[in-house]
Amino acid sequence: MPSIPLYIGLMSGTSLDGIDGVLSSSNQALHAAFVAFPDALRAELLALQSASDDEIHREAMATNQLTELYAACVQQLLADAGISAEQVAAIGAHGQTIRHRPELGYTRQIINPALLAELTGIDVISGFRHRDIAAGGQGAPLVPAFHQAIFGSTTQTRVVANIGGISNISVLRPDGNVTGYDTGPGNMLMDGWIHAQRGQHYDEGGGGQWAASGNVLPDSLAALMSEPYLAQPAPKSTGRDLFNTPWLTQHLQHFTGAAPADVQATLTAFTSRTLTDAIRRDAPDAEAVYVCGGGALNAYLMRLLQEQLACPVSNTSALGVAPQHVEALAFAWLAERFCERLPGNLPSVTGARGPRVLGALYPA
Ligand SMILES: Nc1ncnc2c1ncn2[C@@H]1O[C@H](COP(=O)(O)OP(=O)(O)OP(=O)(O)O)[C@@H](O)[C@H]1O
Ligand SMILES: [Mg+2]
Repeated sequence: MPSIPLYIGLMSGTSLDGIDGVLSSSNQALHAAFVAFPDALRAELLALQSASDDEIHREAMATNQLTELYAACVQQLLADAGISAEQVAAIGAHGQTIRHRPELGYTRQIINPALLAELTGIDVISGFRHRDIAAGGQGAPLVPAFHQAIFGSTTQTRVVANIGGISNISVLRPDGNVTGYDTGPGNMLMDGWIHAQRGQHYDEGGGGQWAASGNVLPDSLAALMSEPYLAQPAPKSTGRDLFNTPWLTQHLQHFTGAAPADVQATLTAFTSRTLTDAIRRDAPDAEAVYVCGGGALNAYLMRLLQEQLACPVSNTSALGVAPQHVEALAFAWLAERFCERLPGNLPSVTGARGPRVLGALYPA
């Protein structure tokens, strides 16, 4: 009897928290691992998001260090599962985005796939976004195709909202039509503010308690909502190229004199409003919203989302997949698509000229 192939998916997103890995079989996470970034690497990855001195050399060094952590994540998955490298068909490795400029024809996810293949002895697929951009697309978001594959329904219009550093939605309709785009910031503004004020990487009290202790400031919220990206039509994608420290610094002038917890509450409300406005506008027929990504663990954010939407809001556990595993599973799925030479993008989402096989192979 032929056994079901195993894939590993590895994702490190715009939150810069670390690497999420899954060992996937038939799109289920048999094992999951998380490797946190050391503070120095996190700081360097953040610095590489904008122009700086000697960045080619620094990018190369950071890439190799990052790749060693990707390999450590793989070793942890293999050890937990008690399997050897030969039993894994391929690794899908996203890498770390340091620039995303599809309008200029490029995106940059750093990872050294040759080194990852060398360190793990497993075929590595990476560079998933380039071909979609070469075909005129945004190269992002790529996850809606996977969301459709595992969360799509033939009877119900569903929205999957991934709240990572940036947020994106997938609108899954019963006829199989899928749309989606990056709605704006996810956790990154909240993370940035609590880090500046309290030195925590996120609201570690759990569930956005600090934000919940503050009051949303309506005028400041309205000022944030005037960001032009929000009104731009799809296809669209964004990242730290727009929602970066200068952006936040510029907008913090709307908060002069405000209590820090009120700023956090307002940034949380901004994150939720950008998502719910997008859902009301582009999926008014949504019958259920399922949240994935680290934002699903922020109870205050989840409460705001539910308050602003008529349909039920839950997380993807309701559909059998833990919210922290969804994105990594998507890259395992994309690796499988590559191995089968099947398209991984959705032109209806990214705006590419057509379906394309995504990624490149570095053999074990
Ligand atoms: N218990 C929690 N309470 C509040 N926020 C949390 C909690 N756990 C995680 N988070 C938030 O989730 C973030 C990590 O989410 P995730 O890993 O999905 O984002 P990402 O790596 O940026 O992925 P993406 O590629 O989707 O942008 C953390 O930085 C933090 O803001
Ligand atoms: Mg992450």
